[in-house]
Parts: sequence; structure tokens; C-alpha cells
Amino acid sequence: MCGIFGYVGYKEALPFLVEGLKKLEYRGYDSAGVATLDKGKLFVSKCVGKISDLESLLQQKPIAGEIGIGHTRWATHGQPSHLNSHPHEDCRSELVVVHNGIIENYMELRQELSARGHKFKSATDTEVLAHLIEENLEAEGLFSAVRKSLLAVRGSYALAVISEREPGKIVAARHGSPLIVGHGEDEKFLASDIPAILKYTGKVIYLDNGELAEISSEETRIIGLSGKSVSKKLTFISWDPESAEKGGYSHFMLKEIHEQPNAIRKTIEGRVEADSHKIHFDELNLTDEEIRRVNRVVFTACGTSWHAGLIGEYLFEQLAKLPSEVEYAAEFRYRNPIIDENTLVIAITQSGETADTLAAVWEAKARNAKTIAICNVVGSTIAREAHGVVYTNAGPEIGVASTKAFTTQLTVIYLLALLFGKRRGIIDDNEATELIRRLIEIPQKMEQLLLSEPKIEAIAEKLSKATNALYLGRGKGFPIALEGALKLKEVSYIHAEGYPAAEMKHGPIALIDENMPVVVLALAGRRYDKILGNIEEVKARGGQVIAVASEGDTMITEKSDEIIYIPSTIESLSPLLAVVPLQLLAYYIAVKRGCHIDQPRNLAKSVTVE
Ligand code: M6R
Repeated sequence: MCGIFGYVGYKEALPFLVEGLKKLEYRGYDSAGVATLDKGKLFVSKCVGKISDLESLLQQKPIAGEIGIGHTRWATHGQPSHLNSHPHEDCRSELVVVHNGIIENYMELRQELSARGHKFKSATDTEVLAHLIEENLEAEGLFSAVRKSLLAVRGSYALAVISEREPGKIVAARHGSPLIVGHGEDEKFLASDIPAILKYTGKVIYLDNGELAEISSEETRIIGLSGKSVSKKLTFISWDPESAEKGGYSHFMLKEIHEQPNAIRKTIEGRVEADSHKIHFDELNLTDEEIRRVNRVVFTACGTSWHAGLIGEYLFEQLAKLPSEVEYAAEFRYRNPIIDENTLVIAITQSGETADTLAAVWEAKARNAKTIAICNVVGSTIAREAHGVVYTNAGPEIGVASTKAFTTQLTVIYLLALLFGKRRGIIDDNEATELIRRLIEIPQKMEQLLLSEPKIEAIAEKLSKATNALYLGRGKGFPIALEGALKLKEVSYIHAEGYPAAEMKHGPIALIDENMPVVVLALAGRRYDKILGNIEEVKARGGQVIAVASEGDTMITEKSDEIIYIPSTIESLSPLLAVVPLQLLAYYIAVKRGCHIDQPRNLAKSVTVE
């Protein structure tokens, strides 16, 4: 949460800062600010609101300089206000700091600093950093002053500092919150995430926990908290810069929904071949023997990624006959989980930076379990911390509501379950060839499904005034019901709940009346008759039914108020298709309600605090 951007080079920093912060706005958007150094003097501009508000302010009163840092905030300590916006300065206004994370011992540091005469202006935890650095600056120089100050700090941070005393450099540090340094020609970029710098360079250094960087236009010097110098390699990011733009769509969410067929193609590409039973994962880091030794799988994740884990549970049980379960990462990490060296813990995460998921991976490693990350962001912390990684290859996902990350996660999980099923002798080569063939068909079927968009938009119009909604499913339709409800809640602010359809009679059916839209995943398969029964129960109580059904289903027609058909596929792959209409439904309802779709209130794309 919170986004940091920095520029040092030979051009005016401000346009880079504003552009970079716009790209990072999905990480937080309650206030924003920038600071530059011009001829050795600091200039700061900040305000409550979005980057567009800051931009208007800067148009009226621009600030100059070829070096600068900026911040877009998701408030943790101190409400969104001018004073609490970053950058924060020291008493002498000689240096400014931007920070993402939480300084846990800030209260005690603040008391100590106040006792030594420091005057605080904000209610943030961040401001203690500015004052701590101020105390060490004169004697130590900026790089060393930041390092020394951080030794006094407990918590998580990604931070950037500039100072009038050493005007040609940015000092940055990372512990727990992501930070990358992008290398251009005689210019450097600092950012919380890759999409912010893609337009300028694909060459990056990932800072690791406990590392500090001194960045000038010529070089990046890295040391550890101990002061020892660290040598780092440049990683080349091959994402297309266009992928971080809206490309003619009104929102990233809509663009990313439409990108799903190609994203799935990229996820499959190079890992399977048509008419073959072979599956390759280059960075899985598990031998066939290790795969055979696994006797239990635990998926751990948060939010939408957790829903992918729920489907993973079904797929691993079905295709690999392995006992599987899914745990919220925040619960898993504190639960004293019973796992051992034969347990495989699969962490699912788009960003690779979610604090709870990262802590769950550490917990699993500490208990000797093997860990795999299913991750979208190349080189992210969780991808590097786990023993093995499978990248989803979805390209940058900018919309806060996760869409293409989810369907590519499901694609990877399906392939992993097949691989485990094969190695364990549950699935033979012929069966694997057929299951792979069915997966390869999915992108084209999804393209066909996306043609239903106008119909879904029309249904959205009817539902846009609802205040509540229920989503019901059975089997693999249940996690999709949860995901559909989450999408609706987060982008349209309509209260929605997902339930296993059979649970209705145990309570939620009391909610049904003529004002309650009920979205039912009525997909072909073993549970179809049962779900028809659940639809009857809803209809008998006056509820409106919006069914997501398999193409060719005629029985559903008279039982539902609205029907969205998905192309036919096997039961194991139906979640990949069934979720798409629910994403579109949430999107268009949010459009009709005038919501901030790519940046829903109170949310941030990557949750790097507990
Ligand atoms: O980056 P991650 O996949 O670890 O993020 C986990 C959740 O924060 C995320 O899936 C969240 O629930 C989505 N924004 C929902 O659309």
C-alpha cells in the first residue's frame, strides 16, 4: 500500500514523478505529494485527493529540479490530510522522506525525539524517520544517516529520501515493502512496482529486505543494514510497456477482463504442447521424486487468490488424489499449522508482495515444508522466497479488482494438478493429453463468451439499484460464487455474499424477497439437478434469479429471470469461463453506479501491511 516513485537524471523530474505516481495510484489514493531539489534547494508540493488533484496544484505552481521523489498514500497512521501527506520533512527542512509500510515502534521513537527537541507536524509513523535521519545527517552523510536511523526502527518500510546537503542522490531502503531501481541512460528511476517504470526502462534491480541504495544518475550503490556493500544483478523485464496503458478501454478492469484469453494462452505457452501429455515448469524446482513424496497440499493466499486456492483444493483432490486444503494466509501464519517436509505449501499471489502471504511462506519454510509460489510479478518477494515458482505470465494487472490474475492462476493450478496426477500415476498419458487439449480450447471459448458483453451490460442496468445480492454455487461453482460476490462488493459497493447453494436452507434463505437478486452458477455437471432445486427455492420466495448456465441448457430457461450462457467445457475447467460474466456484471454495475472502478474506495492493489 502506498506508492513511491523517484527520478534522478538530466531532465525535469516533475513530469516523471506525476506520470509514475499515476501508474502507482492503484496502491493508494487518498493523498499524494512530490518533492524536488533545484539548485540544491528543496521544493515540496502535496495535497489530499488523487494524483489528478496534485497535478492541478502543480500546474498552477510547478516545482523544478532534475531529481525528485513522490508518494501516493493509503493512510494507516493519521487520516488523509495535507499534514499527513508525504513527503515528510525534518525540523530544518533540509531533507524529505516518503515511506510505504508501518514503523511499529514509532510512538516510542517519537517520544524520544520530542524529548530531544524535535517538533512533529503530522500524526504519521513516517515522520520519525525524517527526524531520526536529521540527527545523523551532519556527522554521517545521507547514506549512512539513513542506514543508522533504520537500525532504530521496527516494522516494514520502503522509503526514499532526498536532502539539500547531498543534492545529486536519492537514498532508498527496503524492508518488507517492495522497491525497485530502474536503470536508464544517465537516469535512474525508483518505484514500488514495475508498471511505473516500464515506459522508460526494462532494466531493474530488485532491492531485498534490509538493503539500502544510493542512487545517482551515474550509479546505484547498494549496502546492507550492516553497512557491507552488496552486489546486485540487473534483471530484464520483458513486459510490453503498452500493457501498462489502458489501450482504448475506459478502465483497466475492462481491459484486463478482455485480455484473459491471451493471458491464458501465454500462461500455457511453452508449458504444454497440443496433442501431447507433457507439462514443463522451468522454475518449479521439484524433482519427480519430491513430487511423489508430497502427501498433502496446503494452498495459502488472500482475497481473490484465496478463491483460486479453493478451486485448487478441488482440482488437486480430483486430478492428483492428494489431500488438499486452503487457508487464508493471515490465519495460516498464526495457527501453528501442522505441516512437515512432505507437505507442499502453494502460495498464490498476483503481486508477490502481500504481507500475510509472504509471512505464510516463511512459516511454511520454517516448518520444513516445500513451498511453491504461483505468482504474476516476476522477481517479486514471494516469487524469490518460495523454493519454486510458477509465473502466471498475465502481464501487469493494474485494476485493483483482480481478473486476469485469477484466471491465469486457475490455469496454472489445473496444470500443476495434472502434473502431480501424472507423476503419482493417477492420470495416464492419454487422459493427460485429453485434459490438456480441453485446456487449450479455453481461450477461444472465452473469446466467444466475451461476445455476450452487451447482454451482461443490459442485466447490469437492471441490477444497478440493488442494495444486496447473493451468489450461489455448488462444487467448483462455489468458489466462483465467492469471487463474483467479491468483485461486486469491491467495485460497486453493493453488499454481496457468496454461498454454497446447499447452505441456503441453513440461514440465508431468510434474506430472499423480490428485492434480492440471486446469481446462481448452474453449470452442467454432477450437481446440476441439485442446483435446479436451489433455484426453485429462491423463485418460490420471490427472488430474482440470474443464472450462469452451460450452453445448450434448455431446462434453465423457465426457471430464471436472466440467463448468461457459457460455452461447454469439462467440469474442471468451467470455473475459468464461469467467472468471466461475473467480472463483467460487477464492472457494468459499477459503471452504472458511477464508481471509481480501477481504484475502489479504501482499497489498494497490493496489501503490504498485515
Ligand atoms: O497480490 P495478491 O494476489 O496476493 O493479492 C491478494 C488480494 O489482496 C487480492 O486478490 C484482492 O482480493 C483483489 N484485489 C480482489 O479483486
